Formats: sequence, C-alpha cells, structure tokens
Amino acid sequence: MADPAAGSQAHAYTAPQTPTSATTRGQFLTLSSVGLGAMIGAVIGVPATAYLLAPVTQETTFQPVYLGVVSTFTGEKAFDPTAATYIEDPKSPATSAGLAWVHYTGKNGTDWLDSQNAMFVVFSNRCMHLGCPVAAGPTGFACPCHGGVYDQQGIRIGGPPIRPLDRFQWEIKKGAQGDELWITQRWSVYFLNGKLTYYPVKMPGQPVHVPGGEWVNSWVPDVLYPNVTYTHGPVPKAF
Ligand code: FES
Repeated sequence: MADPAAGSQAHAYTAPQTPTSATTRGQFLTLSSVGLGAMIGAVIGVPATAYLLAPVTQETTFQPVYLGVVSTFTGEKAFDPTAATYIEDPKSPATSAGLAWVHYTGKNGTDWLDSQNAMFVVFSNRCMHLGCPVAAGPTGFACPCHGGVYDQQGIRIGGPPIRPLDRFQWEIKKGAQGDELWITQRWSVYFLNGKLTYYPVKMPGQPVHVPGGEWVNSWVPDVLYPNVTYTHGPVPKAF
C-alpha cells in the first residue's frame, strides 16, 4: 500500500547536498511572484518617488536681475505696462531669457509689498495655462495661444488659465545711472476673498490653492503639485 506521506512529497524538489534546503514548487512560485512584484514595484515606485522628491532636487535660486533705470518705467499714464526683457542666468542666456511687464502705479512707495503705495507691480509674462508669453493691453493681458485673458491685476478672467499671472518681487537700488529697478524673486499668487496671497512658484497649469481652508493649503498643493521651481525664504504676506 502506498504511503500517503510519501505521495504528498512526490512533487517536492530536494537539493541533494542538504535535506534542510528543500523547496517545493509552490514555494518557488511564491518566491518568484514576490520577486517579480518587487521588481514591478521598483519600476513604478522609483520614478514616482523621484517625482515626489523633484522639488528638493530641481529647485533653482532666483538671481536678482536688473530691469532698467526707474525713469524708463514711470512714463506710463493709463494702464500700459512696459516690457522689460532680462536674462535670468548669465551663464545660460539662450535658455533663461524672460520678459517682465512693469506696471507703474503712479505712486512712489518703494516697498514692493505695500499694495496701497507701491510704485510698481511687476508681472511675469508666462501664461498660467501652458506658459505662452502674454501680451499687455489697455484692459490687462491676453495670451495668443488659447485665448487666456487676464485683467489689470493679472487675474484670469477668461480662457483656460487656472490662476493669476506670477509676480516679481522688486527693489530699487542706487546705480551709476541713478535709481535702478531690480527683480529679486518670483512668486505665484492667488486672490482669496479679494486679498492677494503669495505662494512658492509652481509651473503653469498647477494650482497653488485648493478648496478647503488655509490649513489644507499649507501642505496639500505642495503634495499634489510638487513642482516648486525656486528656492525661497518666508512667503510674504501682503498688507
Ligand atoms: Fe495661454 Fe494656453 S498657454 S491660454
């Protein structure tokens, strides 16, 4: 009569040199599946992890940029911002050229954050849909690519852009030719209850604010949309 215990071992593989290293086909397949799963997980997980770590590894530092002497920009009467081209990184002029729209408010405050008295508002010309260059006009800004329209504060009023135009932090420095206008940092912005709020710079198409209150917005946008493009210090508060 056949030994049932011996029958249950009929498909077992036993390494000849040591009885303790026996591995059944089932165990082998299980181990293979686990190994394959780990490999698939690595293939999927490593790029995802790299993406999440991207803001740590891909941020650049905004270098202060000279836009021109102040008198270049103070002739504006009605809303008619002056275009100022600049090179953000002198070592890479071909890839770091930009254009800022400098709006002279008619006031004389030199604190860029003082919304009541600041002399200038300096807008980025990068559309917040896909990044095309916007043009300034009497009523605000318009994007030629897909019809994005912004008002005189850079707030999106039509078309596909998802947030207002970025703004530049600026300051006036004494130079050889007199007062000079420099941009010293870039910020993304959003208007909450009519109040201008600043955020670390995101890419076009990425929200800086999601519904749900300030505590949510202290971390959710950075998790959902982690591509922050500049290192920065404390985020300014407008007053
Ligand atoms: Fe400006 Fe699409 S890039 S509307």
